[in-house]
Amino acid sequence: MSPTSRPVALVAGVLLALLAATPALARDAQRAPEPNTLVPAGDLHYAPGAFPDRIVATPAQDASTGFSVAWRTGEGIRTPVLEITVAGDSPDMGVPRRVPATTRPLHTENGLAHHHRADVDGLAPDTLYAWRVQGAGGWWSPWRQLRTAGPPGTPLVLLYFGDTQNKNASLVSRVAREALRHAPDARLAIYTGDQVSGGDGEDDNEWGEWFDANRPVSSGMLVAPAAGNHEYFEEFEDTPRERRVLGAHWPVSFALPGNGAPGVERTSYWFDVQDARVVVLDGTSALDLGTARAQAHWLDGVLAGNPRAWSIVVVHQPMFSPRQDRDNALLREHLLPVFERHRVDLVLQGHDHVYGRRGGLVEGQGTPQYLVSVAGAKQYRLSDGARRTMDPVAEDTQLFQVVRIDGDTLRYEARTATGRLYDAFSLQSGDIDERRLVEHVEGRIDERNCTRAATLKGRTDRCWE
Ligand SMILES: [Fe+2]
Repeated sequence: MSPTSRPVALVAGVLLALLAATPALARDAQRAPEPNTLVPAGDLHYAPGAFPDRIVATPAQDASTGFSVAWRTGEGIRTPVLEITVAGDSPDMGVPRRVPATTRPLHTENGLAHHHRADVDGLAPDTLYAWRVQGAGGWWSPWRQLRTAGPPGTPLVLLYFGDTQNKNASLVSRVAREALRHAPDARLAIYTGDQVSGGDGEDDNEWGEWFDANRPVSSGMLVAPAAGNHEYFEEFEDTPRERRVLGAHWPVSFALPGNGAPGVERTSYWFDVQDARVVVLDGTSALDLGTARAQAHWLDGVLAGNPRAWSIVVVHQPMFSPRQDRDNALLREHLLPVFERHRVDLVLQGHDHVYGRRGGLVEGQGTPQYLVSVAGAKQYRLSDGARRTMDPVAEDTQLFQVVRIDGDTLRYEARTATGRLYDAFSLQSGDIDERRLVEHVEGRIDERNCTRAATLKGRTDRCWE
């Protein structure tokens, strides 16, 4: 090394050492926080048009004989219809049955949209159907294929996603694709609420991204969404008249059964799918609109009449909140006793943007299993209490879950966005009073914790946003 190059090397060495010692926080200072959507300001990427979009099928009360479809177009369609036929191998699938739809308008930042709903009934169980929906000007969607639920005794695979909420196009899309790769035979996808964040004047862009991001999943199976607090907005915010109001997108974006709790018909519902009864609650309405007691009473009746071997309840806000400084005592007062009394197998929850699992109130009893998960980009921090009472737990991790029900066994897996196994257990026994919890620890990756002191925006109470 020449004498002149020695100082240069010394400086470079010092710089390299400094760089190596530089904490993540300093490197993060060079990164800009990512916006919530990938839609540039003023861009009408999601403006409604002739081509039908936001197509989603949701289960009828009996998912073996029917489903309902919601979709969106622009103006110019007077009598929208859905066409359906038994799927065949020839491109000529015969003359399809035509199901008329109803239409509701929705004004958003992307203009006037027409949202349509068609209810398909009278289907044969465990049958693969091809169906498509009509757009404006005579245009049609592609044909989709969907297998109706089989009779009890048919093995069931379903997906469970926690909050998608933020950066759906950017970061939830990979989770949806990975989930489908692990469960290509799934017949149902459950979303536990806060599908979008909303409230920033670009709700419609967010919903557009949600439908795009989740299309790998939603185009081939039924979707059962729960409403989260972000499906609501605050009317008269910061005034004495402040109150929660359901956002305009929810009622037109999903064609739900409408068989819910009194006063909560738009956001609570139930359906039977093969060996499971699935009940979806509205935790926000329970907490903020005074319906906790009504929902608990209704749930009690729905579960009491359950002829299926397994039961799954979906509610956005957790009974046992794993996030710092959160507690939903009102839900524990009203809903939890019903879950426990009926020995609900799985309580699928979201809202807290971490992962956590725990059993119920009765020590040593396999059910209920209370799950909290998150699919989206926003990541919070675990409370100390959650670390003591839940196992496993995770921070800073996007996840999806696969549930397989086959006869007297329910197997649950939580996997990370890259497909790695994070949590797994089985519930065994066909008798709900005898369910045994069997842990599957082999192949699980180590506990994941947040290693950042703050988010890119400087928030120390979150891990990422
Ligand atoms: Fe939430």
